[in-house]
Amino acid sequence: MPARGRKKIMNTPSTPPPSGLASPSCSLPFLDSAGVTIYKGNALAVLMDLPSESVDCVITDPPYSSGGMYRGDRAASTTAKYVQSGQVLQHGDFAGDNRDQRAYLSWCSLWLAECLRITKPGGVCALFTDWRQLPVTTDALQAGGYIWRGIGAWDKTEAARPMKGRFRNQCEYLVWGSRGGMSNEGPCLPGVWRVTVGGSEKHHIAGKPEKLMQMLVEICPAGGTVLDPFCGSGTTLKAAKETGRRAIGIEIADQWCDVAQDRVAQDVLFTPSLEENAEHDISAERR
Ligand SMILES: C[S@@+](CC[C@H](N)C(=O)[O-])C[C@H]1O[C@@H](n2cnc3c(N)ncnc32)[C@H](O)[C@@H]1O
Repeated sequence: MPARGRKKIMNTPSTPPPSGLASPSCSLPFLDSAGVTIYKGNALAVLMDLPSESVDCVITDPPYSSGGMYRGDRAASTTAKYVQSGQVLQHGDFAGDNRDQRAYLSWCSLWLAECLRITKPGGVCALFTDWRQLPVTTDALQAGGYIWRGIGAWDKTEAARPMKGRFRNQCEYLVWGSRGGMSNEGPCLPGVWRVTVGGSEKHHIAGKPEKLMQMLVEICPAGGTVLDPFCGSGTTLKAAKETGRRAIGIEIADQWCDVAQDRVAQDVLFTPSLEENAEHDISAERR
């Protein structure tokens, strides 16, 4: 990373934005409403504009660059890779899913290093991956500077693609770590989430279930801010909003920005009091 670029990144705007959210000095929000901000753009570029230590945690679902054993397989479209044969196509392709293994490691390390800078000390970073990309993803998290803490499993239930004569690849994985030492305070959270895929709530070919994301955002302190640099149809942002947290999303494609905006604009029964924004207590015992 050129020194000139980094210097600019570290500059936090002197006047905080009215909403109190992390506001990049250059990128203009596509949406900034009711505690949710969405930036349309390349995650790496937008992340470079976000102020240091401004979010409580990062929860994200980047392109996996998976879907095949060989380079040629990976280069296929996301619909060809991730839609079961015979299934009706409901959602279009998405970008950034065809890197080879070395490029994927380098790219993830770059954006994870930016996320590390933006995460408050003690905050968590959690990112999804599948069985093929699990090893490279745990490497990337550590290359980005986080302390690797564990792997959670999203059990997609028997709704996952069946394969005759083989074990079903029924899980996707949540690789997680922290920026330095962590507090021992807070709720005890599960490490396996059994939630079925799909249904009418799926707005993106790789969209995660809302129920799943609602359980995951529990790692963020109440009233805190969750960053999702690959927000797609905005499931993480919606879950954060509906559970009383702020959220910042980044998405490169117009189509998914529009969908995310519509979803987070939907009214929820529970309106969080964001003014009661409790700071994450990182002074507690560390390990
Ligand atoms: C796996 S999907 C996320 C789906 C999301 N979890 C949901 O529930 O809708 C990854 C998203 O990252 C976006 N993306 C790919 N490359 C990107 C980049 N460089 N910067 C920002 N977004 C990017 C894709 O357009 C896609 O929507």
